[in-house]
Amino acid sequence: MATRQIPRTTLGEGASHEGFLRHKRFRWAKLALLLCAAAVAGYALIDAPPRHYGGTAFGYVLGTVATLLILWLTLLGLRKRAMTPGRWSLKGWTSAHVWLGLSLTVLATLHSGLRFGPDVHTLAWGLMMAVILSGLYGIAVYAALPPALGDSRAEMTRPQMVDALAKLDVQLEAAAQPLALADAAVVRKALAEDPFAAGLLRRLSGSDARSATRRAIVALAPAGDAALLAVLERKVAALGQIRRHLRIRALLEVWLYVHVPLTFALLAALAAHILSVFFYW
Ligand code: HEM
Repeated sequence: MATRQIPRTTLGEGASHEGFLRHKRFRWAKLALLLCAAAVAGYALIDAPPRHYGGTAFGYVLGTVATLLILWLTLLGLRKRAMTPGRWSLKGWTSAHVWLGLSLTVLATLHSGLRFGPDVHTLAWGLMMAVILSGLYGIAVYAALPPALGDSRAEMTRPQMVDALAKLDVQLEAAAQPLALADAAVVRKALAEDPFAAGLLRRLSGSDARSATRRAIVALAPAGDAALLAVLERKVAALGQIRRHLRIRALLEVWLYVHVPLTFALLAALAAHILSVFFYW
């Protein structure tokens, strides 16, 4: 059974960013283009005094479609935590999310009629554009990642990594038994090294500058215990692999710390925008 390595991201679960953008031969890209074309045609062809904005009948239609789309796009957060394969796979949802999300630049901008000013309506539009830009940034991050992601896939899965580390630690413990107290203490520090406990910045850097296992190699090398040094080297290699894995995971997740809070700010501004429109009506 395939084990997912990067469980909290849609794109890390077996689909390259390309596969996901091209999903079903660009089905969602085509639909998004169609939506935009219909919106532009309606804007240009349906009579309006002197042009459409949020308050014309066509403007209301655009506003309603854009609002429903934004609510649906927000639901991806729930959907990605309840994954199912098949027709409405997470890959399909995310493809639709990206392309229909991009179509909002046209739909909501035409809805605004370009009436921008220091008000809650423009705030909602601005936040929506910020969410979309952050989404584009996320896609760019994924686009830069595939080779590293591929390497990571060729390596072990997380449970396998934890298991390999535990086995090395058992060997280290055995090898440390005959050591003098000071040397045994150095090995114990290496035993306690836990790469999964590293904070976000350490995980993003992938650095092993403070690795107790590396230090143990330097400290114990003069004694020349080849068996012990070999286990320590293997642990350094295993830790390096885990750090690379954690770094990729952190890179894939970190941009969501912008995308998601901006989404909630957008929902609040959108609610204020809609309420104020009906309040003044
Ligand atoms: C107003 C429009 C948008 C809203 C409200 C929105 C909202 C969201 C939300 C709530 C999530 C789920 C995050 C989570 O819980 O983990 C998400 C994920 C995502 N968004 Fe958007 N988004 C919008 C537009 C876009 C656009 C235009 C793009 C790309 C160009 C984009 C790219 C993504 C991607 C790739 C993910 C999935 C990340 C992952 O699962 O690893 N979004 N978005």
